[in-house]
Amino acid sequence: MDKIEIFGGKRIKGRVKLSGSKNATLPIMAATLLTDEPCIIENVPQLSDVYTMAKLLTALGKEVKFEDHTLTIKARSNKSFSAPYKLVRTMRASFCVLGPLLAKRKKAKVSLPGGCVIGVRPVDLHLKGLNCLGANIKISGGYCYANPKKLEGKEVFLGGPFGSSVLATANVMMAATLAKGETIIDFSACEPEVVDLARVLKKMGAEISGEGTPQIRIKGKKSLGGFKHRVIPDRIEAGTFMVFSLVTGGEIEIEEISPQFLGAAIDTLRRMGQKVLVKGFKIYVKRTSEILPANIVTLPFPGFPTDLQAQFMVLLSLAKGVSTVTEKVYPDRFMHIPELNRMGAKISRFREVAIIEGIDKFSPAEVMASDLRASASLVAAGLSASGKTTVYRVYHLDRGYENLVEKLERLGAELRRRKE
Ligand code: UD1
Repeated sequence: MDKIEIFGGKRIKGRVKLSGSKNATLPIMAATLLTDEPCIIENVPQLSDVYTMAKLLTALGKEVKFEDHTLTIKARSNKSFSAPYKLVRTMRASFCVLGPLLAKRKKAKVSLPGGCVIGVRPVDLHLKGLNCLGANIKISGGYCYANPKKLEGKEVFLGGPFGSSVLATANVMMAATLAKGETIIDFSACEPEVVDLARVLKKMGAEISGEGTPQIRIKGKKSLGGFKHRVIPDRIEAGTFMVFSLVTGGEIEIEEISPQFLGAAIDTLRRMGQKVLVKGFKIYVKRTSEILPANIVTLPFPGFPTDLQAQFMVLLSLAKGVSTVTEKVYPDRFMHIPELNRMGAKISRFREVAIIEGIDKFSPAEVMASDLRASASLVAAGLSASGKTTVYRVYHLDRGYENLVEKLERLGAELRRRKE
């Protein structure tokens, strides 16, 4: 296992080139199961989650080539239908193969993903949506089994207790592309990654409208073709680098990203008194002397993303005054709090609300990463603290940040990756 040693207190300054979005890439990879024709996906980040999905597609009879940042996915056999526990357990996005398998191969055996450290993460909305189209999924021994004769378009309400679901929307939308008749998804997720998937499905020949809104309509087709697509840039990586620079008193320019992807984060930074300039597809962020406290509520898109909550908590810790973070998507996603407190933060938690008292500075420490975005928050605190911080269990970061050490070094940080 690797660790990262950070020699903090250096200003993070410069221009960052974003990688392709992990969360857009994974469902797009699953969509290749809807066709036997070759598919080409460009701007794919080299991340462990992408390799996991490639393994799963290979197990499902695809030939997957990953060269530079381009995936070429071709059909080898279309008889496999089983997604084993060992692959679905490590990455919940694997569950997204269920919809395409049911639609194209009319047979699926897909492991249930189970819980994870950020809280209970059910798949009831995925199952509800697919069953509504006629999948008739049976659960036994931790697996979902189904072999529907056909899927039929229906009106499906996909809202849950925490709002819309990104991957349930993706799963049902993919299944609906090969169902008979029209499917209407009400309370669909509006995330840019869902829109990117819809764009791919349309390139494959699907008839879809309303993507990016809470109602998506899909007219089913008899078959779909291959595609070539360039994945959108990673908005969560962009927001994370904004925090990296601001907590070090720095400034950063982020290129080639639609500012609309980051509307809530930009608005929050401005409320915190930080300088944010937006021009075309560029965002420039600069630290002002004082950070104002703020109240953040995480919500589905276009609300403030839960995937930036941990990182923004580091910035709020350096504000003059008391801030709050209300986690409305994953009420238990606070594993980073005890570790940030070990670095001098003053954060307490009551149910889904974290209360953050401002401190002057973080102090370096040895800390343990618990999940992907929590790890990014520890890196942010380490960059801000003068002295040596060691972040253990770096494999969490490898799931979602491509070349993190190299990218930060280019921006003036001093850090190195080592074997534990
Ligand atoms: C995706 C992202 C993840 C992000 C999350 C929320 C990918 C690969 N992952 O995960 O990084 O943190 O969106 O923006 O894109 N829920 C149910 N029943 C379900 C499904 C979800 O109650 O069947 C709940 C979840 O527990 C959660 C909320 O709905 O409270 C939103 O989850 P969801 O949007 O489904 O997250 P994912 O799509 O798994």
